[in-house]
Formats: sequence, structure tokens, C-alpha cells
Amino acid sequence: MGLVFVTRRLPGDALERLSAAGHEVDVWEERLPPPRAALLERAGQADALLCTLVDPIDGALLDACPRVKTVANYGVGYDNIDVAAATARGVAVSNTPDVLTDATADLAFALLLAAARRLPQTAADVLAGRWGTWEPGGYLGHDVAGATLGIVGAGRIGEAVARRAAGFDMTVLRSTSRAGTPLPELLERSDFVSLHVPLTPATRHLIDAAALRRMKPTAILVNTARGGVVDTDALTAALHAGTIGGAALDVTDPEPLPADHPLLQAPNVLVVPHIGSATTRTRTRMSEIAVDNVLAGLAGRPLPQAVSP
Ligand code: DGY
Repeated sequence: MGLVFVTRRLPGDALERLSAAGHEVDVWEERLPPPRAALLERAGQADALLCTLVDPIDGALLDACPRVKTVANYGVGYDNIDVAAATARGVAVSNTPDVLTDATADLAFALLLAAARRLPQTAADVLAGRWGTWEPGGYLGHDVAGATLGIVGAGRIGEAVARRAAGFDMTVLRSTSRAGTPLPELLERSDFVSLHVPLTPATRHLIDAAALRRMKPTAILVNTARGGVVDTDALTAALHAGTIGGAALDVTDPEPLPADHPLLQAPNVLVVPHIGSATTRTRTRMSEIAVDNVLAGLAGRPLPQAVSP
């Protein structure tokens, strides 16, 4: 039987299956993630680690935790884990794909609609008593129906966004590393650009100053992938200069942004706190899948949702 260190409380009761199988479960009970020293100490005792996307798991940490042979990440993205280092040490790594596809695609579309129709600014005016009355030229936004949506990285979540776009009669362009519309052309033609690539060395700052310059001055950038895919300074500059129309972001770099960060003062920016998968059903399913992976690892079986470098 093994000891599992779980770096945060999880929705649902999936952890009970670990105890029922005879394993010991050590849960980090605080709201913020374990600092490095605590992670080293608690994971150092464990046989398996159930961690989240804000826990950096690298070779040095794994060297300090020689009993850990299973790392189950709670999330589909696993850029917080050095998978190559884990594999080299015989540590199996898994994620929680599929179950969060719809929730994340819903949020991408919610962000797109909110930014297009200026919901944050208009709602703020109503709350602050700044709205005088209906006026023909007041609060004009952008049409979504019939517009062109560029999807960068058309994997599971990108395709789910494309299905939603079909209901809005949008023209959908897709750009992947191997196929589809070339990224420069997609950026030039799209009214909305939605990012759905994992964060890797190849995609870090994929949307940089040059990419932003290609976008239409009215175009809106939506990011529910990872903050590091966008060059934050370049985006901040583009929004302040008005060279793109707006940005709606579930993820940022750094995350969270300091409250006085100039990106948050930019016009037409909407930032929400990394809530792509944050529905009760989705997060509960993620707990179940992460536990399935831990159970498999502790039983010496292949992880059902194993990832490789
Ligand atoms: C993931 O699973 O990678 C998401 O970003 C979580 O919301």
C-alpha cells in the first residue's frame, strides 16, 4: 500500500477510493499551493503525487522524492511537469483530458461573446450609475454572427469551440503546427482569434508583437490555453495603442497578474481567474480521473491517461 500526497483539496469524493484501496492519503489543506519546501517535504515521503497545474514538478524535486513513481496531474495541461525528467527517472505522468473539453470551450465562447459585446464595461457602467439612457450610438460592439473565427491549435478543445462557432454561422479558420491556414494568414483574416495550443518551447510567445501586428485593429484575442503562449508585454502595448480591438483572457503570464499590472488597465481587456474547467461536474470528473491514474500507478499498472515527453 502506498502514501499519496495530494497538493490541494479536490471536489467530489474520489480520494475516498484511495483510502478504500488501503492507501494513505495526505492532503495539503491550505488554499494556496504548497511552497517548494513543503512540497519537497511532503512529497518526499510519498509513493505517488496528485498535483495541480500550479505545482512545478521538475527533475530536482523528483530526485528528492525517490519513492514517487506516479505523478497524476489534475488538469489537461501539464507544462508544470518536466515529463522528460520524469520519464528518465522511471516516473509515470498522467493528465485529465476530455472531461474538461466542453467546459473550457464554453468559457472560450463566453469570453468571445463578452468581449465582442463589451459586457464588462457596460455592466460596470450600470453598476456605477453611469448609464444615462438608451442611445443609438451607445456601447457599440462587434457582430459575432457571420464573423471569422481563427482557432490556433485545433485539438479537442479547439474543435469544440469550432462546433459552437457553427451555431453562430461563423467562418472558422484553423491553424495547427502541421496543417490548416498558415498562422500569419489566420491572424490577418480573423475577427476573433482563440488560442488552444499547449504551452511548449515551440508555442511560448507564439502570439508576440509581430503576430499581434498582423491582427485586424478590431480583432479580439481569446486565450483559454496558457498565459505563456502570449507575450504579455506585447499584448499590453497593442491594447494600449489600440492596434487590436480587445482581449479576453482566462490565463495570463504571470498568473495571477499583480493588481496594478498595466494589462489590467488596458482598454477592452477582460481577465478571469483561470476558470476554464471550473464547473462542479467537470472538476469532480477530473478528480475521478486523477485518482484512477494514481490507483493504476500504485498497482504497478500503466496509467490510463499517461502522457509522454
Ligand atoms: C487545464 O486542465 O489545463 C486547465 O487549464 C484547467 O483549468
